[in-house]
Amino acid sequence: YTVDYDISAAEKGGYDYFMMKEIKEQPNALSTCIGSRVHDGEITLDKLRLSDERIKNIGRIHMVACGSAWHAAMVGKYVIEELTRIPVEVDLASEFRYRRPILSRNDLCITISQSGETADTLAALREAKANDVHVLSIVNAVGSSIARESDDVLYTMAGPEIAVATTKGYTTQLAVIYLIALKFAQIRQTIRPEVFQSLLADLQKLPEQLESIFADEDKIRQLAKDHQSTGTELVRNNVFIIGRGIDYGASLESSLKLKEISYVHSEAYAAGELKHGTISLIEPGTLVIAVATQDLLYEKLISNVKEVKARGAHVIAIVKEGCTDAETVADTVLYIPKTADLFTSTLTVVPMQLFAYYTAIELGCDVDKPRNLAKSVTVE
Ligand code: G6P
Repeated sequence: YTVDYDISAAEKGGYDYFMMKEIKEQPNALSTCIGSRVHDGEITLDKLRLSDERIKNIGRIHMVACGSAWHAAMVGKYVIEELTRIPVEVDLASEFRYRRPILSRNDLCITISQSGETADTLAALREAKANDVHVLSIVNAVGSSIARESDDVLYTMAGPEIAVATTKGYTTQLAVIYLIALKFAQIRQTIRPEVFQSLLADLQKLPEQLESIFADEDKIRQLAKDHQSTGTELVRNNVFIIGRGIDYGASLESSLKLKEISYVHSEAYAAGELKHGTISLIEPGTLVIAVATQDLLYEKLISNVKEVKARGAHVIAIVKEGCTDAETVADTVLYIPKTADLFTSTLTVVPMQLFAYYTAIELGCDVDKPRNLAKSVTVE
């Protein structure tokens, strides 16, 4: 008696690809990552060697990473600067390691890596340590090289990630960054206690809110189909994702998802920069995805949408629940649940993970193993 048993299908938990399994694991991963560190209105950052005294005296933070982890840092800069008022520099590890960065002893280096084995990130970490800079790493793989060589490690606790395109790895990196920003702000007294508590409450709601976005999966699958079945070859293969501030950071990651797995070229653009060149590439039918979740920048983004619409673009807007006026300018609107403006990237990236996934499926790509890419790059 034998049972027909497909091990690889079992590992994928009934999904066709690991990427979809991992997209769907995000609420749980986030809840573990945040829940294990928040108790009774307080954040405990594991057992950091970095003392409160040193946190109070940090002069500058250098966030260093590659790929999606670098995109997490791009969002992190806005969040950390806003809450702690510590200047943050973001560097690609491959640039940082060779540019003789200006480092001081009271700086903090935050390296971010899902695998913990990326050669450039490891080299950047060593460069920081050689300059007596304290290194705090945000890592998923327990016991990896970057985790071992850092002064402090905060694990993202996302569990194994198999698909080359990261999903839960990225959203948990953001969660750890939010925790760091809030904790440092509390220690440095740069935010009021009631603001701290209200942000903490928003942070704890993220897992459930992320889950609720899955209700739009069919709609997003259809959008991906429609985009591939309409328009000329040229327009199908050129997408712009625009945003300002944190939404620009999230656009970078959204754009990478689409490029990596579907091979559709897309470009993330800070919306205010469009008029300085890129708008010349907008022609009738070009897909523009506008991410507009920041209250202070919302109207500016709506103006940018009008500019591209006037040139014939097809626009999908991603906005917060309640911003229904976006429907008067965009062709399609996707809503994310309301959260603090600082935390929206955790939610805005999800419709884009699904859009990238279904575009890749539509085009017959191997979602989990995109051509030319590796999950972990341990060579320079
Ligand atoms: C590779 C992967 C990317 C990843 C980057 C950094 O290029 O394909 O998805 O973001 O490495 O990886 P790390 O493990 O350091 O986060």
